[in-house]
Amino acid sequence: MNFQKPKGTPDFLPGTVEKWQYLENTARGLAELYRYREVRTPIFEHTELFKRGVGETTDVVEKEMYTFADKADRSITLRPEGTAGVVRAYAENKLYADPDVTKLYYAGPMFRYEQPQAGRMRQFHQFGIEALGSASPAIDAEVIAFGYDYCRKLGIREVRVEINSVGTADIRARFRSKLLAFLEPMKEELCRDCRSRMERNPLRVLDCKIDQHRFDGAPSILDELDEDSRTHFEQVRGHLDAMGVPYEVNPRLVRGLDYYTLTAFEYKAAGIGAIDTIGGGGRYNGLVGQIGGEEHDQPGVGMALGLERVLLVLEAQGAAIPDYAPLDLYLIGLGERAEAETVRLLHEARAAGLAADKDYQGRKMKSAMKSADRLAAREVAILGDDELDAGEISVKNMASGEQRKLPLNEFIRVLAEAKRQAADEGRS
Ligand code: HAM
Repeated sequence: MNFQKPKGTPDFLPGTVEKWQYLENTARGLAELYRYREVRTPIFEHTELFKRGVGETTDVVEKEMYTFADKADRSITLRPEGTAGVVRAYAENKLYADPDVTKLYYAGPMFRYEQPQAGRMRQFHQFGIEALGSASPAIDAEVIAFGYDYCRKLGIREVRVEINSVGTADIRARFRSKLLAFLEPMKEELCRDCRSRMERNPLRVLDCKIDQHRFDGAPSILDELDEDSRTHFEQVRGHLDAMGVPYEVNPRLVRGLDYYTLTAFEYKAAGIGAIDTIGGGGRYNGLVGQIGGEEHDQPGVGMALGLERVLLVLEAQGAAIPDYAPLDLYLIGLGERAEAETVRLLHEARAAGLAADKDYQGRKMKSAMKSADRLAAREVAILGDDELDAGEISVKNMASGEQRKLPLNEFIRVLAEAKRQAADEGRS
């Protein structure tokens, strides 16, 4: 029997997984500077949470969820995104009682039943942040800046931030009727997707790549904004200007999830073929109340980056991605007693902070050296029974080829000291 992984899911093997660790560690490091703390919520939730949170008429809920009945016949869904679960956890654990803003981040797999292609998977991975408890435009700007800084820190060039305001529910309702009046006369010429979106979620019609050219004279939601929404949007922009975060206003930007109010934004970068959105987010005032009860409502804003897409862009742009940490020391024992001694020495080397390994396959000298080469060891230490008796060990530097004899009870200290010094020099 030959098993294969389900379509659209990844195996991250050594060689690739280090890139993922780098993406995640960089994001965690930035989260620490911005003071967002990690939250881990379940990979699956009650289906109703996503229906209510993400919205019944969204593509995600209508077509893309992995939904199943558990053994007690409850409807369960693998999380298609992170915000609904975080907001549920925030409300359920009464984090709204915290007088300060609650700033949370998460990293992990999400699941959407989509047609796989470059940058589109059925199991994909997001890094996201959510700030709950503040309606200030300053925190919208902070969230937008976080994603931008992250891309810059990784070395992604030319990240474009597009922002829009989708106003309040009332504003959207008004805009919807104006937009429908504009679309109605051209309905028959629009693509099938657009026609069906006109029925269910007209704002998303403007997002269509195929019919984009027909929408030149379309009404703009920005013209519908009331005083408060307009001021909020202007202030977000003002903060971004002051921080030096570049952005473009895109009045057609409509996100695919229903919970957004006021600010909506996306990060775009070239390098993944047809797909250019690597992340997105926005404000979602009212969502906490909808999920956790109106009496505990709190404003919120957040964003998530798709790490598959971030990695594809990094690779396409040839940005430097650090490799697996090098092997400092490879030990070879020749002779029974010497071989046994290398087991103890290996343990000591690791305790001294060296990345160290040994041969475990009883190889002869020549093929053990080949292993050391393949593993890119910096130093190889060879111990024979005679050397063991003499209290010495041969240490070969693989880059220079230089070989030296060192006292057996000192060589680990010497190598560990050299590693520390090299690290210090690298830092200064
Ligand atoms: P989203 O725009 O649905 O927003 O997803 C965010 C990012 O996840 C996308 O920009 C993309 O990079 C990545 N992504 C989405 N679907 C796939 C897929 N099938 N394969 C690979 N990558 C994918 C959200 O999920 C919101 N929860 C973001 C947010 C947080 N809004 C407020 N807080």
